[in-house]
Amino acid sequence: MTPDLMEQGAKRLQAALEQPVMGKTESGGRNAGYGRLSTVGEVDTTHGRILYLEDVSVSFDGFKAINGLSLDIAPGELRCIIGPNGAGKTTMMDIITGKTRPNSGTVFFGSTIDLLRFNESQIAQMGIGRKFQKPTVFEQLTVFENLELALKTNKAVKHSVFFKLDSAQSDRLAHVLQTIHLADSVIRMAGNLSHGQKQWLEIGMLLMQDPKLLLLDEPVAGMTDEETVRTAELFLSLKKHHSLVVVEHDMSFIERISEKVTVLHEGSVLAEGTLAQVQNNEKVIEVYLGR
Ligand SMILES: Nc1ncnc2c1ncn2[C@@H]1O[C@H](COP(=O)(O)OP(=O)(O)OP(=O)(O)O)[C@@H](O)[C@H]1O
Ligand SMILES: [Mg+2]
Repeated sequence: MTPDLMEQGAKRLQAALEQPVMGKTESGGRNAGYGRLSTVGEVDTTHGRILYLEDVSVSFDGFKAINGLSLDIAPGELRCIIGPNGAGKTTMMDIITGKTRPNSGTVFFGSTIDLLRFNESQIAQMGIGRKFQKPTVFEQLTVFENLELALKTNKAVKHSVFFKLDSAQSDRLAHVLQTIHLADSVIRMAGNLSHGQKQWLEIGMLLMQDPKLLLLDEPVAGMTDEETVRTAELFLSLKKHHSLVVVEHDMSFIERISEKVTVLHEGSVLAEGTLAQVQNNEKVIEVYLGR
């Protein structure tokens, strides 16, 4: 990149940081979604779980949105969560990420970190990345600049135009660009990407932090069929190194990626198993799939 281009980029970056971000209306907002990882401690997964919820409940004005929910996610697992509108899927993510405090229950990251003792940005810094439904990339920055921005862990650095990637960070950025299929679009403005590409870029921004656990809420909503297929491939390539919890209504997508599927209904687990098992479950057919 020429010095000229870099200077233009720095100016746009500065301007973007001073602007409100597109899509900020969604729960949690941009800062919540991107609490930066500065240091990542080791998560103890020796008991075979990266995430553990037991008997979690939360009420809103007396309405139990989450009702005795228990969930167990293994390291490297790709878990699909399905269920009707209002089942509590997004609220479950709000609880894991510290946006909503449950009234009761246990939420652990690995076997030693009690997530209920931490706030949203601390939880993000521990290595739990969250993707909201709407893409919230910086439209007026390039793909490269968006990914670079995701590395800036503290405010002082974030506002410095002199931030330079070290070689490990450059390698990671190159790797992430390949992973999200945007290696040919590094200098394109994020605002000019397709909806699907914006979603991938936002996932890329999360990957820059190398999260242990990724929570993805309706990631293929609004994507074309082709983008949906590529997103399925992307998620399959991410599991093992990361654990993923994916909420989706698109069953063709679930079919492509699913191992174990959990069906939520009225704030608790209605069924769990392979997709075929839950699809043949009478209760699941009645409340969700059979509609
Ligand atoms: N902050 C809140 N205050 C009041 N009610 C809430 C709040 N958050 C969620 N709810 C209610 O809790 C229930 C569960 O909502 P949630 O958004 O978790 O469902 P969901 O499974 O994600 O649904 P969808 O598939 O439509 O996204 C709904 O009835 C919703 O209206
Ligand atoms: Mg939801």
